[in-house]
Amino acid sequence: MSGGFVAIGVGLLAVLLVGYFGQRHLPPPKPTFIGLDLGTTFSCVGAYHPVSGNVTIFLTDQGSQCIPSVIAILPDNGTVLVGKAALNQAPAIPSANLIYDAKRFIGRSFQQTSDEDFQLIKDRYPFTIRLTPDRSRAFFEVVLSNGTSIFFSPEDVGAYILHYLRTTATNCLGRPVSRAVLSVPAEFDQVQRNATKKAAAKAGLDVWRVIQEPTAAAMAYGLHEEEGIQMVLVVDLGGGTLDVSLLNRQGGIFLTAAIAGNSYLGGQDFTHRLLNHILEKSNLTIEGNGNTTETEISDQVVLTSETSSEANTVPSPHLRSIDQATLQKLRLLADQVKIDLTDQEFIHIKMEMPVELDLNITKQTFNQINEDLFQKVLRPIEVVLEEVSLEREDVDEIVLVGGSTRVPRVREVIGEYFDRDLSNPPKVDPELAVATGVSVQAGILGGMWPLQVSAVEIPMKVRKIHVL
Ligand SMILES: *[C@@H]1O[C@H](CO)[C@@H](O)[C@H](O)[C@H]1NC(C)=O
Ligand SMILES: *[C@@H]1O[C@H](CO)[C@@H](O)[C@H](O)[C@H]1NC(C)=O
Ligand SMILES: *[C@@H]1O[C@H](CO)[C@@H](O)[C@H](O)[C@H]1NC(C)=O
Ligand SMILES: *[C@@H]1O[C@H](CO)[C@@H](O)[C@H](O)[C@H]1NC(C)=O
Ligand SMILES: *[C@@H]1O[C@H](CO)[C@@H](O)[C@H](O)[C@H]1NC(C)=O
Repeated sequence: MSGGFVAIGVGLLAVLLVGYFGQRHLPPPKPTFIGLDLGTTFSCVGAYHPVSGNVTIFLTDQGSQCIPSVIAILPDNGTVLVGKAALNQAPAIPSANLIYDAKRFIGRSFQQTSDEDFQLIKDRYPFTIRLTPDRSRAFFEVVLSNGTSIFFSPEDVGAYILHYLRTTATNCLGRPVSRAVLSVPAEFDQVQRNATKKAAAKAGLDVWRVIQEPTAAAMAYGLHEEEGIQMVLVVDLGGGTLDVSLLNRQGGIFLTAAIAGNSYLGGQDFTHRLLNHILEKSNLTIEGNGNTTETEISDQVVLTSETSSEANTVPSPHLRSIDQATLQKLRLLADQVKIDLTDQEFIHIKMEMPVELDLNITKQTFNQINEDLFQKVLRPIEVVLEEVSLEREDVDEIVLVGGSTRVPRVREVIGEYFDRDLSNPPKVDPELAVATGVSVQAGILGGMWPLQVSAVEIPMKVRKIHVL
């Protein structure tokens, strides 16, 4: 009898050993699911690798992991370009042919929106936004050079971006992939989730699960596995949006306890302030615009009238006028300076062409001109804590995501509020955190060894509180 058990035991051990060495020496299986982060300003795609347990965010053929969530429609033949390729066309095509921010419109009804409010929304964008007769959907109209109009729904725009990302994943993995996990903002209702899924279906993707962006971010940090974590605050500060979510973890399950946000606060605003500062210090003015508010938009920067009071003083006789193309170059420069100031104390800008510039910008100046915006980041945080009657100390973990949380002063402001040190460089690239978490979820769905823990979230009907 016992001899029989021993034989079975040895047989089992042999099978396990073969499996173990097989797993080590055979090439690891390739991911069968991909994780997609369709963001308002940037989008990316990744996958979880079995065996190593690493997540890769794929490098696109545009040379970066994230692509701008933008499409351009060429006026001559209606060809659609995506991402950087689209932005590169910006100087050559009418600004109405560049569509961005489509995610703000996906699955969104305007039946409760007054004509005046809809006009305000339209005024933010250089492209043409129209409504269906019943006002239940928005869509975009682009007029080609021959006078023909073509129409794009927000889902169509999403589909172009997702299709490009799917192609990227296919190229990087060396075989076609279509099974996907998709992230959506926490406040998306069923209609918006469905619309996002529709965009994915149009891109040839088979969506197995949709998870909320804050949950994905928490998973990127492994918080679904970590002991003793109950309340997680996720602060997502992107290019143009701020979303704050409070997650309550119960076992492997994340519940959304409260969400608040500011739909128009993000890195673009910091860049805009810096651009105005550079223009002011260099006595530059925008051609045809005098010194008044700029409204031209040729990239994703929505320019507002937040010029500082100094800009409104009597124009100096030394003012030099610059055209839109130069403005666009300076905007890119300002954006780069903002990024470089993350780990440098000052940046020396010297430029001969297309306009002469010579000035130093210190981190201190950058912080000063943006301090009021940085302080605004705290408002939705306060609202969320109030909403569930929690004290600052009750928050177990603070997760900072979105490229703009790289700004040291932003980390400092939030750290001061919670009396914690958040200045250390993040473990996970804040710009890739959502994509990383979605990819981990994709790995869980794919049942890939050695991932055993599953994290689920229960979609909740939590109303987002908008804060200005
Ligand atoms: C996984 O990531 C680690 C740390 O980033 C790296 O050292 C290792 O080479 C990666 N493994 C694979 C198989 O890519
Ligand atoms: C205009 O150009 C588009 C794209 O080349 C083409 O599909 C369409 O038929 C043209 N319309 C007219 C009226 O020529
Ligand atoms: C569309 O027009 C652009 C130039 O406007 C050209 O480079 C491109 O090859 C054209 N594409 C097609 C499919 O005709
Ligand atoms: C969302 O899509 C599902 C499946 O297609 C459908 O059953 C459900 O009614 C849709 N919900 C809404 C609110 O559109
Ligand atoms: C910028 O700073 C450098 C180093 O401190 C200094 O040499 C240079 O003169 C400064 N330039 C301007 C325009 O202030």
